[in-house]
Amino acid sequence: MSSKMGIAVFFFFILVVKSAASENFTYNGFRSANLILDGIADITSSGVLELTHRAKINQGHGWHPDPMTFKNSNGTVISFSTTFVFAIVSPYPNLTGHGIALVVAPQRGLPGSLPTQYLGLFNESNNGNSTNHVFAVELDTVQGDQFKDINDNHVGIDINSLFSNISASAAYHANVNGVDELKNLTLTSGLAMQLWVDYDGNEKVINVTLAPIKVPKPQKPLLSLKYDLSSVLNESMYVGFSSSTGSVPSSHFVLGWSFSMGGPAPPLSLSMLPGIPRLFPKELPKFVTIGLPILFSFMFVLVISSFYYAMLRKRKYEELLEDWESDYGPHRFKYKDLYIATRGFRDEELLGAGGFGSVYRGVLPDTKMEVAVKRVSHESKQGIREFISEIVSIGRLRHRNLVTLLGYCRRKRELLLVYDFMPNGSLDKHIHNVPGVALNWKQRFHVIKGVASGLLYLHEEWEQVVIHRDIKASNVMLDSEFNGRLGDFGLARLYDHGTDPQTTHIVGTIGYLAPEQYRVGKATTWADVFAFGAFVLEVACGRRPIEPQAQHSDIYLVDRVFSCWKRGNIAEAVDPHLGNDYVAEEMELVLKLGLICSNVEPSMRPSMRQIGQYLKGEAPLPEILSPAAGNALSFEHHVNIALDDDEDDDEEDDSEGLLSDQSTNTSASGTRPSVAESVLSKSLILL
Ligand SMILES: *[C@@H]1O[C@H](CO)[C@@H](O)[C@H](O)[C@H]1NC(C)=O
Ligand SMILES: *[C@@H]1O[C@H](CO)[C@@H](O)[C@H](O)[C@H]1NC(C)=O
Ligand SMILES: *[C@@H]1O[C@H](CO)[C@@H](O)[C@H](O)[C@H]1NC(C)=O
Ligand SMILES: *[C@@H]1O[C@H](CO)[C@@H](O)[C@H](O)[C@H]1NC(C)=O
Ligand SMILES: *[C@@H]1O[C@H](CO)[C@@H](O)[C@H](O)[C@H]1NC(C)=O
Ligand SMILES: *[C@@H]1O[C@H](CO)[C@@H](O)[C@H](O)[C@H]1NC(C)=O
Ligand SMILES: *[C@@H]1O[C@H](CO)[C@@H](O)[C@H](O)[C@H]1NC(C)=O
Ligand SMILES: *[C@@H]1O[C@H](CO)[C@@H](O)[C@H](O)[C@H]1NC(C)=O
Ligand SMILES: *[C@@H]1O[C@H](CO)[C@@H](O)[C@H](O)[C@H]1NC(C)=O
Repeated sequence: MSSKMGIAVFFFFILVVKSAASENFTYNGFRSANLILDGIADITSSGVLELTHRAKINQGHGWHPDPMTFKNSNGTVISFSTTFVFAIVSPYPNLTGHGIALVVAPQRGLPGSLPTQYLGLFNESNNGNSTNHVFAVELDTVQGDQFKDINDNHVGIDINSLFSNISASAAYHANVNGVDELKNLTLTSGLAMQLWVDYDGNEKVINVTLAPIKVPKPQKPLLSLKYDLSSVLNESMYVGFSSSTGSVPSSHFVLGWSFSMGGPAPPLSLSMLPGIPRLFPKELPKFVTIGLPILFSFMFVLVISSFYYAMLRKRKYEELLEDWESDYGPHRFKYKDLYIATRGFRDEELLGAGGFGSVYRGVLPDTKMEVAVKRVSHESKQGIREFISEIVSIGRLRHRNLVTLLGYCRRKRELLLVYDFMPNGSLDKHIHNVPGVALNWKQRFHVIKGVASGLLYLHEEWEQVVIHRDIKASNVMLDSEFNGRLGDFGLARLYDHGTDPQTTHIVGTIGYLAPEQYRVGKATTWADVFAFGAFVLEVACGRRPIEPQAQHSDIYLVDRVFSCWKRGNIAEAVDPHLGNDYVAEEMELVLKLGLICSNVEPSMRPSMRQIGQYLKGEAPLPEILSPAAGNALSFEHHVNIALDDDEDDDEEDDSEGLLSDQSTNTSASGTRPSVAESVLSKSLILL
C-alpha cells in the first residue's frame, strides 16, 4: 500500500518537475537549443535562428520542441510572458518582405500556410477561421491592403487571422525626462530590436512592447489589448516563430528568446547573443572596399592601354601571309623577330645599302644567331609568288661558296631576306678605296676559285640551272675565313618577273653585263660567265670594270687588259697595290681567263666547269682569239651610253638603284643608235 502511494507521489513529482522544467526557457542564441525547424529555417553555426535567408517567396518556422500548458484546470489561460531579439535584413534598401510573427499554435507546425503576405501563418481559406486556435504577434514590413494593414512597418496582434485585432506603427515609448515620447523604429533597418509579449491571465490583457536592442523594456507597451485568450488557446500549445519572404530575398533572424509561464520572461543576456549574420559572408576589409576598386580601375586602364598597345604592335609587326605561302612555313621568319634582331632596323645595324635595298646586321632573338637581313622594297603583287617559290628553292642551295639564304618575310611593299651573316663583308670593300693591301694575292686567288666553284654549282651541279645574273665584287661576301661566297643571286629576278614583256628589263650591273643581254635581255649562263670575267679582272687589277675618270683608252678595264696583253706585258694591268707580291703564273692565268670570258660571242666563252679546270691547272687555257678586241669595242659602244648616270659606280651609296625611263642617249660613238641603246633607255636596273 505504502509502496503504491510512493509510486504515485513519485509520478506526481516527475510530472511537476517535467512541467516546471519545460514551461520556462531561455535561449541566448540557439546553438544548443533543440528547436524544430521547417521550411527554409536554419540555425547558423553562430547560433542565429535564420527563419529565412536569401530566398524569395518562401517561409520558415522554428518551434520550441515541447508543448506548453497554457490553461488552468478550470480552463482559464495562465499568464505568460515572452521576449525575443530579432533583426530583419534586406539586400536592397527599402525593399523587404514580409515579416516575422511570434506564434502560439496547437501544433508544431502550421499546415497549409502560405508565404508572402500570409507570413507563413495561414492561407486564404483558413484565414480568420476560429478553428485555427492560433495566437500571433506580427512584425509586418509590407502593407497588405488585403488584410487592412496600417502601413509597411507595423506591429500587430493576430488572433486566428491576419486581420490584426490591434496594430501600431513600429515604435517605442521612451521616458525622456519624465515625459513619455513615442519614438519611431524601422523594422527593416537591419538593426537588432527586442519585442516583449505579456499576457495577464487575471486581467485578460495582452501587452506588446518593442524597443531597440540595449534599450530597457519601456514601461508603456506599444500595444495593449484586453482579450481573453481562453477561447483561442488550447490547454497544450506550442510556441514558435513564423516568417515569410516575397519577391525580395530578405533575411529574418532571431538572436535570442526566453519564455516563462506564470511570470515575466527571463531577461536575455544581450552580450551573449550571436551577431546579426552578414548578407555577404564577411565584412569586406578596406582593401576590398577601397583598394580593389582602385586596383580594378588601374587594371582597366592597363587592359585598355595594353589592348591599344597590342593594336599598335600588331600594326608595327604586321606581315603579309597568304595561303599559298603555307608550304614555305619553315622558310618564313616572323617580322617581329627580325625587328627585334635588327633592333628596329637601326642605322647602327646597317651593313650597306644597295640597289635592291638595305642590309642590316641582326641577332635572332631565339637562337642568338647572327644574320644579315636584306630589306627589299617591292611594289608589285605580280610575280611575287613565283619569286618566293624561287627564293625558297634557292634557300635549299647549300654550297660553301654561296651565302646561305635562311628564309624570308613579307610585309606590305616590303620583302625581307634573311642570310647568313658574313663577318668580313663584301669583297669590293677589300679591293676598292682601301689604303694599302687589304687582301693579298693568295687570298684573292682563293676567292676567285671559290666564286668559280660556287657558280659551277649553280650552273651545273644543282638539280636545276640557276643563273646568278649579278656577279660582281660587291656581291661576293667574305666569311670569317675569307672564303668567297656568292650572295644575292636570284634577287634580280624579282624585278624581272611579271613585268610587261614589251619592255624588257635588263638586269645586272653595267660593266658586268654581256653585250648580248642588251639585245636579247635574256639571262644565260654565258652572261654569268661574262660577268665572272669582269669580276676576275676587277679582283686582279684592283679596279672596277669601268672607270670614267680614266684616260679614254683606259675607261674599260677589259680594253686595258687586252691592250696590255697585246703589247706582251699583261702584268702592267695588275693591281698596283699588290706590287710584286703575287704569283706571276697565277696572275697571268687569271687575267687571260678574264679576257677569254669577256668574248663578245657567248658561245666562245668557256663554261664554268672548264673555268674550274683552268684555275686548278687541270686543263690548258685556250688561246685568246681576236674577237676579244672586237669585244672591247662593242663593249665600249654598249656601255658608254649609261656612263653619265653611273659615274660613281659605288653601289653602297646607290640607294636609288632603279633607273627607269631615263633618256641616257649620250653615246660616245653616238653615230648609230643601236638596239642596245633603245632597250637601255627604256629601263635599266642597276645594283
Ligand atoms: C518560471 O519563471 C517564473 C518567472 O520567471 C518563475 O516564477 C518560476 O518559478 C519559474 N519556474 C521554474 C520551474 O523555474
Ligand atoms: C482558475 O484557477 C486559478 C488557480 O488555478 C484561479 O486563480 C482563478 O481565479 C480561477 N478562475 C476561475 C474563473 O475560476
Ligand atoms: C528609403 O527610405 C528612406 C526612409 O525610410 C527614405 O528617405 C528614402 O527615400 C527611401 N528610398 C527609396 C528609394 O524609396
Ligand atoms: C489551408 O489550410 C488548411 C489547414 O489549415 C488546409 O486544410 C487547406 O487545404 C488550406 N487551403 C489552401 C487553399 O491551401
Ligand atoms: C473553418 O474551418 C473548418 C475546418 O477547418 C471548416 O469546417 C469551416 O467551414 C471553416 N469556416 C469558415 C467560415 O470558413
Ligand atoms: C479580434 O479577434 C476576434 C477573434 O478572432 C475576431 O472575432 C474579431 O473580429 C477581431 N477584432 C478585430 C477588430 O479585428
Ligand atoms: C512615426 O511614424 C508614424 C507612422 O508612420 C508617422 O505618422 C509619424 O509622423 C512618425 N513620427 C516621427 C517623429 O517620425
Ligand atoms: C500592460 O500594460 C499596462 C499599461 O498599458 C500595464 O498597466 C499592465 O501592467 C501591463 N500588463 C502586463 C502583464 O505587462
Ligand atoms: C483545441 O481545442 C478545441 C476545443 O476548444 C478542439 O476542438 C480542438 O480539436 C483542439 N485542437 C487541438 C489541436 O487539440
